[in-house]
Amino acid sequence: MQTDLLQKVKEDPGWRLDYHLMPETGWLNDPNGLCQFKGRYHVFHQYEPHNAKGGATHWGHKTSTNLVDFQEEEMFISPDQPFDKDGAYSGSAIEAGGKLHIFYTGNVKKAGYHDYLYSGREQNVVHIVSLDGFEIEKREVVIRHQDFPEGFTDHIRDPNLFEMAGKYYMLLGSRTLDHRGAIIAFESDNLDDWVYRGKFLEGHSDQGFMWECPDFFQQKDQSVLLLSPQGLAGDAFNFQNPYTAGYLIGDLDQEAIKFKPQTGFQELDYGFDFYAPQTFEDERGRQIMWAWMGMADHEPEYINPTVSYGWQHALTMPRELILEGGELLQRPLVEYESLRGQLQTEGPIRGEVYELQVQFEEAVNNFSLKLRQDTVIRYDGRVLTLEHGRSGYGRRKRQLVLDDLEDLTIFSDRSSLEIFINGGSRVMTTRVYPIPGSDQISLETEADYAFKFWPLKKEE
Ligand code: FRU
Repeated sequence: MQTDLLQKVKEDPGWRLDYHLMPETGWLNDPNGLCQFKGRYHVFHQYEPHNAKGGATHWGHKTSTNLVDFQEEEMFISPDQPFDKDGAYSGSAIEAGGKLHIFYTGNVKKAGYHDYLYSGREQNVVHIVSLDGFEIEKREVVIRHQDFPEGFTDHIRDPNLFEMAGKYYMLLGSRTLDHRGAIIAFESDNLDDWVYRGKFLEGHSDQGFMWECPDFFQQKDQSVLLLSPQGLAGDAFNFQNPYTAGYLIGDLDQEAIKFKPQTGFQELDYGFDFYAPQTFEDERGRQIMWAWMGMADHEPEYINPTVSYGWQHALTMPRELILEGGELLQRPLVEYESLRGQLQTEGPIRGEVYELQVQFEEAVNNFSLKLRQDTVIRYDGRVLTLEHGRSGYGRRKRQLVLDDLEDLTIFSDRSSLEIFINGGSRVMTTRVYPIPGSDQISLETEADYAFKFWPLKKEE
């Protein structure tokens, strides 16, 4: 943490979030190393506390016993080794033999003239062992960049681990020499010695030039692969951000260590700020996901106003993932019900930090909900639109096609909105920077509906 930035953060006009994880100062991006280890939930994350615009990332660390109240822990990894000097990039955790094993990408940029795509960059896989989730016993490179297979650019990163039939598997995101995304797999008996097993899944040229942050899990006998592709061609309703995050449902070929998708690539979130999701299974058997509630923006007009206040970005709420009816539903965790204040089901409502559930009792043709300073959620025929005015700071509109609107659950925090649609079948997540105090909520529709509104409040 930097004292000059801390001073700036104190001057933030009211966009610091109440119930989301965010950097104390500086920059935050991907969630990393998510786990429940010895009962305690650990959320690590990409973090550069000295610079709100990013830089060589560290691993920040927050822990919790209830998934709602988090404690800031000491910095877990600083990029201070020759094998990670330009960033302790993303990675994940696995428990084995009662120890926590963390794998991350050590990013190194060599001096000299390089494009850092075909040359000049090293991305080493580093293995950390911890007995308690806090102290590091061992931190060693287990796959050196030069040991990666041929056919790839220098971009191979973001290890994701799973165990199967007594062996460990590591997936890595990559960019091939002909600019396609691929997930590659390594196998190990002991988590230290790794053998390349080939491509777990390979993309076509129209499926993005790079795939980041793989996350693999199984639920109800099916396999799910989360990916964050860069450069996926979008249209007015799909893949509207420069970088996307989504999933495939399929089967795992256990012999060949290959993923066989049975569905097309489905976007996880249709808003402006959602990337690099990661999941873990908690002790209650729930698959819980956090994502970076941010985006490496390419839209030149977008200015994130919190940078002037010494910080940038946050994580989404944790969401439970449920595989149902051939899709992944995203549900806010029940734990967040503990933030609810007095329930209101009629009369005018106002608020900045709240949960609002709207249940439609008949088919809806027209619906609009105005909230915060100038944000509108509109359903018109078959299109659901999220639109910001000035409070979007350059961000305007995201939309998706929806045959029926059945329900909406909106989680509003000081400078974020997470909109769960039709039981979490679609989600839109956005940061927004209203003038503090902007608390209008006005709903218009000809359809019959019922609502539940709770102000949300976190115990200090
Ligand atoms: C995704 C990502 C990862 C990388 C990390 C670096 O946002 O680009 O691929 O490990 O961020 O901060």
